[in-house]
Amino acid sequence: GMSRDLEGRHVMVTAGPTVEPIDPVRYLTNHSSGKTGYAIARAASLRGADVTLISGPVPLPAPEGVRLVPVRTALDMMAAAEAAFRDADIAVFAAAVADMRPKKAAEHKLKKGVADAELGTIELVENPDILATLGARKEHQVVVGYAAETHDVVGNAQKKLLAKNADFVVANDVREGRAFGADVNEVLFVDAEGVEELPLMTKERLADAVLNKALQYLR
Ligand code: PMT
Repeated sequence: GMSRDLEGRHVMVTAGPTVEPIDPVRYLTNHSSGKTGYAIARAASLRGADVTLISGPVPLPAPEGVRLVPVRTALDMMAAAEAAFRDADIAVFAAAVADMRPKKAAEHKLKKGVADAELGTIELVENPDILATLGARKEHQVVVGYAAETHDVVGNAQKKLLAKNADFVVANDVREGRAFGADVNEVLFVDAEGVEELPLMTKERLADAVLNKALQYLR
C-alpha cells in the first residue's frame, strides 16, 4: 500500500499566490487558493515524508506535521524554495507565482489626485521563474511543475516541461473558473513519454496521484 511510502523522504511544495506590492495598501495577485499545494503537503506528510510547504498568503491552516514557510512575494518564495530544494527528494511547484511585480513599491500610499500618474501607469518588471531556476539545478530531485492554461493545454505544458526541466507537468485547463479555488480538478500528466488524462477528482485524491507519479521518478 501507499501508507508510509515516503518515510525518510524530503518533499517541498510551493503553494498559493504571490502578492506583489504597489504601495502599503495595494498589490497585484491572482486567484490561487492554496488548496492544491496544501493537499499535496498534507498527503506527503501522511505518507511519512518530511514536508516543507512554502506558501503565499492563503486562509488555510498549516497541515499537521508540515513545516510551513509563509511568504508574500515571488522574491521571498524564490529564496525559501532555493533553501529547501537542496535537500528535497521531490519538489512540487504548485504555486501561482506572479510573473511580474511593480518595479518599485511606493513607500507611502499613492493618493488619488496627488499620485494619479503613478496609479495610472504601474511599471512592471519580471519576477524570477522559481521552477525554471531550480529545474536547471536539478540533481537527484524529482521536479514536478504545474501549468495553468486557457488554450492548447498539452502543447503549452510540453513547452513548460522542456523549458523548466521538470520530470512531469500537471496541466490544468483554467477556463470557466476551473482549477483555481475549486475543491475538485481534472488534470493531465505530461512527461517525455506522453500524456495521461486523469478523471475529475478531489484535490485530496489528486495529491496522492501526483505523489504516486513522482515516486516513479525517485532516483
Ligand atoms: O491554489 P488552487 O486554488 O488550488 O489552484 C491551483 C492552481 C491552478 C494554481 C495550480 O494547480 C497551478 O496550476 N499552479 C500553477 C499556476 C501557474 O502560475 O502556472 P504557470 O503556467 O504560470 O507556471 C508554470 C509553472 O512554473 C508552475 O509550476 C509555477 O509554479 C512555476 N512558476 C511560474 C512562474 C514563476 N515566476 N515561478 C514559477 O515557479
